[in-house]
Amino acid sequence: MLARYHLEDELGTGARGAVYRGRDKTTGCKVALKLLTDDSPRELRCGGDAVARHTDAARRLRLDHPDIARVLGTARAGLLRYVAMELAEGADLSGHARPGNLLPLSLVLSIVARAAAALEYAHAEGFVHGDVKPSNIVYDENTDRVKLVDFAPYDDDLSRTTLAYLAPEVLCGAGRSAASDQFALGATLYQLACGRLPFVARSQPELAWRIVHEAPADVRDAAPEVPAALSAILGRALAKDPARRYPTLDSFARSVSRLRACLTPAPAASAG
Ligand SMILES: Nc1ncnc2c1ncn2[C@@H]1O[C@H](COP(=O)(O)OP(=O)(O)OP(=O)(O)O)[C@@H](O)[C@H]1O
Ligand SMILES: [Mg+2]
Repeated sequence: MLARYHLEDELGTGARGAVYRGRDKTTGCKVALKLLTDDSPRELRCGGDAVARHTDAARRLRLDHPDIARVLGTARAGLLRYVAMELAEGADLSGHARPGNLLPLSLVLSIVARAAAALEYAHAEGFVHGDVKPSNIVYDENTDRVKLVDFAPYDDDLSRTTLAYLAPEVLCGAGRSAASDQFALGATLYQLACGRLPFVARSQPELAWRIVHEAPADVRDAAPEVPAALSAILGRALAKDPARRYPTLDSFARSVSRLRACLTPAPAASAG
């Protein structure tokens, strides 16, 4: 039990700790609690209190958008620090990022367009997500709600980030930005559309090298049924040079939505 929260079942484990479903003892509201272990050897190797930076930045996050899980507060319990967040109902998209379990393309495009619009809002408020990937997008198929979770604007330690979604300029030392969020969402869209990452390699250094130097395989190599327009959208979102990407996440969202509209069969004309 953590001060004002009851801890319930585990939602999953990531590089920085585990996330639990919980309940606010006073209000009864459901929450997600991200528990971060302090002073792990990894933290000591990083030479600073990354966990404290993480929670401080989470506390500063001030975003109010229906498609973004709000940070409710941060606290300390013994050696643990934790971030309490709005609980996103549903399941994250990592289960739909492999062949054989893909969502229909029209739904993928709808989810990605909504994630892009939510990111546009965050960017306008001055916050970068920094860790966009399928496991940080939660979708509830019962209500058709999308929620971005786990904004990580604090995290300057690349060893804790999944490299596969990192933009080339970030791998070369630039800070994360709206343009690198777009690259990460492009890599997410690629994977949700065909079940493969745009860049694959046998080791992390090789992966980083490929992201920086190589063009991704055409998404239609893995999924020949997707329209050529999707390859064009991905080519732009995954451009090596951030200046060649869409100027904003809103324009990326509009392109994705236009493509989706082309896929949707026109409703049958009603008689009379
Ligand atoms: N606010 C939330 N509501 C519901 N589920 C959440 C919430 N935040 C995180 N989760 C889920 O908890 C699980 C673990 O999340 P966590 O962020 O620790 O790991 P990750 O995203 O897989 O990896 P990483 O540590 O690299 O971010 C994931 O399935 C994630 O979708
Ligand atoms: Mg996460």
